[in-house]
Amino acid sequence: MKPGQLRAQAATILSRLLQQQGSLATLLERPNDNAQDFPLLQEICFGTCRWFFLLDAVLSQLLEKPLKAKDQDIRCLLLCGLYQLHGMRVPEYAVVNETVAACLVLKKQWAKGLVNAVLRSFLRDAEALLARAQQSDAARLCHPVWFMRAARTAWPEQWEAILEANNQHPPMTLRVNLSRVSRQDYLEQLALAQCGAHAGQLCDSSIYLEHAEPVISLPGFAEGLVSVQDEASQLIPDLLDLEPGIRVLDACAAPGGKTCHLLERGLPLAGLVALDNDARRLERVQQNLDRLQLKATLACADAGQTAAWWDGQLFDRILLDAPCSATGIIRRHPDIKLLRLEDQVLALQREQLRLLAALWPTLKPGGLLLYSTCSVLPSENSDVIDRFIARHPDAKHEEIPAAWGVECAYGRQLLPDAAGHDGFFFARLRKDPETLLR
Ligand SMILES: C[S@@+](CC[C@H](N)C(=O)[O-])C[C@H]1O[C@@H](n2cnc3c(N)ncnc32)[C@H](O)[C@@H]1O
Repeated sequence: MKPGQLRAQAATILSRLLQQQGSLATLLERPNDNAQDFPLLQEICFGTCRWFFLLDAVLSQLLEKPLKAKDQDIRCLLLCGLYQLHGMRVPEYAVVNETVAACLVLKKQWAKGLVNAVLRSFLRDAEALLARAQQSDAARLCHPVWFMRAARTAWPEQWEAILEANNQHPPMTLRVNLSRVSRQDYLEQLALAQCGAHAGQLCDSSIYLEHAEPVISLPGFAEGLVSVQDEASQLIPDLLDLEPGIRVLDACAAPGGKTCHLLERGLPLAGLVALDNDARRLERVQQNLDRLQLKATLACADAGQTAAWWDGQLFDRILLDAPCSATGIIRRHPDIKLLRLEDQVLALQREQLRLLAALWPTLKPGGLLLYSTCSVLPSENSDVIDRFIARHPDAKHEEIPAAWGVECAYGRQLLPDAAGHDGFFFARLRKDPETLLR
């Protein structure tokens, strides 16, 4: 790789992200060959997004005037440089040299002097610059103002802990395939492989690794003994009251973490339909099913357009793991801080209500629908259920009796826990057969 190339790549990714041209997941693709530099690129991109609001407040003190819109790439290059100096253990000379060299790769020779001066000024005066930057809440807590306001209103006692958890590196959590191996046995296999790990508290299938590991180095991964999945998501099968012989719909299924977990329970189901409107993501459901040697009926369609995919047979259980703001998983996807805008939340609420209303007629009387999101915002959670119930008299909310999380007006909320699970919401709706008869 030529000098400055990796930093230029990071700056280009961040600049495209700021222009809403994609997310880290879509812009940061692991190369098939020559992947040894990929972890560094990934860390620079993730870390710069995680600490963006602080780094940007530092940068604005170091620039005499803001950079022009056409020089966003240089702004992003500087932010990535500041992140490496402040948050990573890269030698200072390497950060400065590589970042200056990146100006040539970006074909902006004129910026070399500026980049050199800004990074060296930061090194001379880091403490004072950071202290001044942290006078603003957005920079100190490293979140967009709209989200801080929304979190504070919704969770007056927990909002700062939520933001703190969002700024941490997430743990790597595994789901043990209990139909193949017990959690204790798998913990022993991890110990033999010298992977530090401990059992989770919420579910009997969850394991936390002390350090992230490439999945291929996990014992029995290729054979389907284990999958990567946050602990909150692993609560789903219990909340869905699975029984032998029932028909299940997983309405927003990709990449299939929950679909596979439902099937791993090993119950003889009458069928499981896994639906998603994104064909590429649906391919990942099939790959996960194949690895775990499981079978489901896959369909690519808008769950809200039942005429396009439903054969008219009612479901006993529906899981609607709805598209949402993903504000409960910011620590895993720190680019959400930059990509998510306040007005998107209302649009998401409308979409969640549309999906609920469309799926409801496909549920059997007496059947159960589990609504879940990885959002911490009541407008996508309890409020959605409230509005849905108001328009559907046969929808009865069922409480979730549990020792975990916070009981909401409707449903139960897990808030992100720094060393534990993600932020997640669950609500159960039973279709009341009596109401239908009246
Ligand atoms: C939160 S993710 C689901 C995660 C998945 N349940 C799992 O555990 O792996 C939401 C999914 O909904 C899909 N989706 C969004 N709108 C949809 C729609 N109208 N119909 C079907 N799927 C939709 C997205 O493509 C995305 O894969």
